[in-house]
Amino acid sequence: MSEVKIRPAVVADAKSIMTLVNELAVQQVMLPRSPASVIENIRDFVIAEVDGQFAGCGALAITWTDIAEVRSLAVAPAMQRHGIGRKLVDALVQDAKRLGIPRLFAFTYVPDFFAKMGFTHCQHEDLPHKVFNDCMHCPKFSACDEIAMTRVLDAKASPAKLFGKPQRAIPLPQRTPQFTPPEPTRKA
Ligand SMILES: CC(C)(COP(=O)(O)OP(=O)(O)OC[C@H]1O[C@@H](n2cnc3c(N)ncnc32)[C@H](O)[C@@H]1OP(=O)(O)O)[C@@H](O)C(=O)NCCC(=O)NCCS
Repeated sequence: MSEVKIRPAVVADAKSIMTLVNELAVQQVMLPRSPASVIENIRDFVIAEVDGQFAGCGALAITWTDIAEVRSLAVAPAMQRHGIGRKLVDALVQDAKRLGIPRLFAFTYVPDFFAKMGFTHCQHEDLPHKVFNDCMHCPKFSACDEIAMTRVLDAKASPAKLFGKPQRAIPLPQRTPQFTPPEPTRKA
């Protein structure tokens, strides 16, 4: 196979991403993505190209300060098993490190692939609640059969930081004083 190039996505890639991801979603090997969710989150994506042609994609979706999701990872069927998936994950890992994110997770049907990428199995309950926000939009809500996997990038990040609940560091907005309408003034 010719050289594989990994690059950040641009909006012109949205159609190729959607076509590949949704073709694979029809085969029930990954979850579908809507046009809006791809376009709005295009900066999350990296693209694999072979001879200038789209060959695959993957996204890093930041969940919170200490955790991000590897999602929508897909390689064109004809190009699979040539190391492209690994290159995409490596690029997403580099991006997570650049951003200072100490831990990744993925929900997947291919745990053996993710195990090769350094991920280990975890229980869904081990992940912070916030990671399940997107589940509300998932057709498999309440019947999730994906396997949760996680990879620690920065072992020095303390478990308290990794799993801790957000602290109330940001002052909450003050309650607006209740508006009392002025007494109507009667004209004599
Ligand atoms: C999963 C997927 C992204 C892997 O991409 P790929 O380019 O085929 O993977 P690579 O060639 O980089 O493989 C890297 C390693 O993982 C192994 N591997 C790849 N797919 C595997 C699988 N389905 N099961 C077990 N091992 C797998 C390879 O043998 C290779 O191992 P090695 O380094 O010991 O040789 C790709 O098969 C795909 O798009 N599948 C359909 C969509 C999907 O399931 N996406 C994941 C959504 S979470």
